[in-house]
Amino acid sequence: MMARGDQTNLFEDARVCFAPMAGYSDAPARLLCFEFGADFAYTEMVSAEGLVRRGEKTICLLERMDGEGPVGVQLFGADAGVLAEAAAIVTGTSPAFIDLNFGCPVKKVIRRNGGAAIMRDLGLMGRICRAVVRSTDLPVTAKIRSGWSPAEENFMEAGRVIQDAGVAAVAIHPRFRTQGFSGVANWEHIARLRAGLSIPVIANGDVQDATDYLAMVQTTGCRIVMIGRGAYGRPWIFKEIKDALDGRISGRVGIGSRIDVLERHLRMEVEWKGERLGTVEMRKHYGWYLKGMPGIKRYRRELTSAGSLEELVRILVELREGFDGTWKKLA
Ligand SMILES: Cc1cc2nc3c(=O)[nH]c(=O)nc-3n(C[C@H](O)[C@H](O)[C@H](O)COP(=O)(O)O)c2cc1C
Repeated sequence: MMARGDQTNLFEDARVCFAPMAGYSDAPARLLCFEFGADFAYTEMVSAEGLVRRGEKTICLLERMDGEGPVGVQLFGADAGVLAEAAAIVTGTSPAFIDLNFGCPVKKVIRRNGGAAIMRDLGLMGRICRAVVRSTDLPVTAKIRSGWSPAEENFMEAGRVIQDAGVAAVAIHPRFRTQGFSGVANWEHIARLRAGLSIPVIANGDVQDATDYLAMVQTTGCRIVMIGRGAYGRPWIFKEIKDALDGRISGRVGIGSRIDVLERHLRMEVEWKGERLGTVEMRKHYGWYLKGMPGIKRYRRELTSAGSLEELVRILVELREGFDGTWKKLA
């Protein structure tokens, strides 16, 4: 088992990470983000109860692909004892750290007092953090929102509870639970949290490109920024950010390269989940990868209805040739 101190550099050295996103941050997506420069990543949220019951699908979420960088396993739940037990199981799989979800707005999770519901019960939040920190030698992190609602803004209090419990770093997505994903993320909240805590604060919310990244760092004073939807269909956002940190401007990613990355993503999903599930899982990604390409509707329709890897690869070949033709005509 890794000693707690072994990973502390992760939160000192890292500049950009890939967010936990249920249905998106699976192993193939994470590997792509690592290849483009993400410093660490998170699993999709994992049910602590499911783990303790040894649910097969839940356990699969802990698996990582060869070549991935440091991955934190994100747990959700509402019972400190169950979360501590789940953390001990996770520790046996040697991830880089364990993250606690205090921000999920989804009804199914809230109804069972998990996710953002815990923002309304800081006593429980403290008990969960302390129990999990005690149950593992891995660093423990937490992810919060600004509060339940504007009337219940309490990210500062939550941050102190988390820090006092021995948590190594805290990520904040500065929207209220009542907002879901609407409106804009309030970066001012991040700046205040960072100024008020001594543990690293990971800044999250609405970073779509390297310019946003630099603005986020400037506004909040945080070193680490978490990217979620900005990586949809463009995992190279991490390279753009690393280039910007080195004072370079990345070149535009051409259509051929976009299709190449899409094909690699598809092949990895199929390798990881099998042909049937892998091809179905990829359907939500096509629109993002192909966004803005002219005349893409027909290809998108074909890709989302194709049933085999062979057929999909054939469509991608046609797509590449189609675009070569289009660009030649335009040139
Ligand atoms: C489809 C989707 C799934 C998400 N799943 C999770 C999750 O499992 N755990 C979590 O802490 N946050 C989850 N989030 C929230 C993101 O981690 C992130 O906080 C949010 O999207 C804001 O960052 P962004 O503007 O960079 O996307 C999810 C967001 C989306 C859009």
